[in-house]
Amino acid sequence: MANVVIIGAQWGDEGKGKVVDIYTEHAQQVVRYQGGNNAGHTLVVGDQKTILHLIPSGILHPGKRCIIGNGVVLDPKIFLGEIDNLQKKGYLQDDSQLVLDGNLHVIMPWHREIDLAREQQSDRKIGTTGRGIGPAYEDKIGRRGIRLYDLVKPERFRRKLSQVLPEKNFLLEKFFGKPTLDEQAIFDEYSAYAQRIEKYLGCASTLLSKAIEGGENILFEGAQGTLLDIDHGTYPYVTSSSTCIGGVCTGTGVAPRHLDGVVGIAKAYCTRVGEGPFPTELHDEMGEALRQAGQEFGSTTGRPRRCGWFDAVAVREAVRLNGLTGLAITKLDVLNDLESIKICTGYAYQENLLEEFPRDAEILQACQPVYEELEGWQSDISKAGSMADLPQAAKDYLAKLEKVTGCPVVLVSVGPRRDQTIQISNPFLS
Ligand code: IMP
Repeated sequence: MANVVIIGAQWGDEGKGKVVDIYTEHAQQVVRYQGGNNAGHTLVVGDQKTILHLIPSGILHPGKRCIIGNGVVLDPKIFLGEIDNLQKKGYLQDDSQLVLDGNLHVIMPWHREIDLAREQQSDRKIGTTGRGIGPAYEDKIGRRGIRLYDLVKPERFRRKLSQVLPEKNFLLEKFFGKPTLDEQAIFDEYSAYAQRIEKYLGCASTLLSKAIEGGENILFEGAQGTLLDIDHGTYPYVTSSSTCIGGVCTGTGVAPRHLDGVVGIAKAYCTRVGEGPFPTELHDEMGEALRQAGQEFGSTTGRPRRCGWFDAVAVREAVRLNGLTGLAITKLDVLNDLESIKICTGYAYQENLLEEFPRDAEILQACQPVYEELEGWQSDISKAGSMADLPQAAKDYLAKLEKVTGCPVVLVSVGPRRDQTIQISNPFLS
C-alpha cells in the first residue's frame, strides 16, 4: 500500500495532469487538496483532448473515486460545466465517483470582481488568473467565507449572504468604482447550483481514513507549483494556497504519516505565467522557440507563458521543501532540435554565488543565472519507450538533472500521449 503526492516543482504548468493520469492506474482514490479553477490540466486520451480545471484528472478512469478536499476553493458554475462536459463525453456515469468535501469554500461573484478590480490597479498587479482565487482564500482565513455546507442550507446561505454582501458591495462601489451585486440574484443562482451539487457532498477526511484503513492507494494531485506557494513561493507573486506538501494534510484532513512518496513534476526547461521573478527567463528567439515547440500557452487563460532554461536552484528548493522522493521530467521532446541546452546551477548575486534559492523575491529578481551547457541530441525522441531508446545526449541531460537537483528521475515524458512515457521506477510499487 502506498499513498503518493504529485507536486509541481517549478511555477506550475509542469504537466502534472498527465503524470497523475498515468499513476491513477495504481490508486483507488484521487484527491485534489488546494487551489481552484486557476489550475488547468490538459489530458490527451487517444486523440481526444480534455481540459479540467477542478475535477481531478482521475475522473477519466471509470471506477476510481475522485475527491475534492476542503482545501480547494470551488466555483460552482465551472464545476457543473465540467461535469456536463465529462458526461457528454461518456465519463462520470456514476455519481459516487466524485465527492466534494462540504467544508470547502465557494468562490462567489464578488471574489471574481475584486480579483479583476485589484489587477486593474497596475501598481499592485500579480498577473492572477482572474478567477477569484485570492479573494476567496482571504474570506476563508478572515472567517467570513461561504462553504458548500452553507450553500446547500437555504436559510443559512441567505443569512451568510446578507452578512457578507454589504461589505463587498461597499468595497466594489466605493473603493473600486464598480457596480454593486444583487443579493437576490446571487441567492437564486447559487441555490440552483447547490441543488445540483448536493449529491456529491461528503467528508474527504473520513472517506480517506477509511480508504487507508482498507489498504487502498491514494494519489494526491497538486495544482500550481512549489514556487507559487503562499508561504514558500516568490511572494507576493504567488497563488493564495499551500501548494507544497503541507497543503495535502490541511487540505484533506489526512495525517502526514500516511504520505509515502512525493513526486515532483518539472519540465525539462522552465515556464512561468503572470508577474514575478524568473531568473532563467529567455527574452530572445530561444524563449520564443521553446514557447512554440512546447505550445506554452495557458490552458486556463490562454496567456503566452514566459519560457527559460531549467533552473536547478529552484528545483532543489522544491526537493527540499517537499521532501521529494522522485522527479518526473516532462516535455523532454520539446528540446529535440536544440544544438545545446543550458541548465542553471547557481545564481550570481552581487559579489556572491548563491546555490540556495533566496527566500526573498526582491533578491531573486536581482539574481543572474550561472549556467552549465550540455550538448543537445538533435533527434526525435517522441517515440522512445524506455531509457535505452534515448540518444546518449538525452541520457546525459537527465543524469545531469539528477545530479544538480539531488533527486532521482522516476519518469520521463516525451510527448503528450499516455504511451509517450518512460517509467523508470514507480512510487506505488517501490
Ligand atoms: P491566482 O492563483 O489566480 O491568484 O494567480 C496568482 C499567480 O499564480 C499568477 O501569477 C498566476 O499566473 C499563477 N497561477 C495560478 N494558477 C496557476 C497554474 O495553474 N499554473 C501556472 N500559474 C498559475
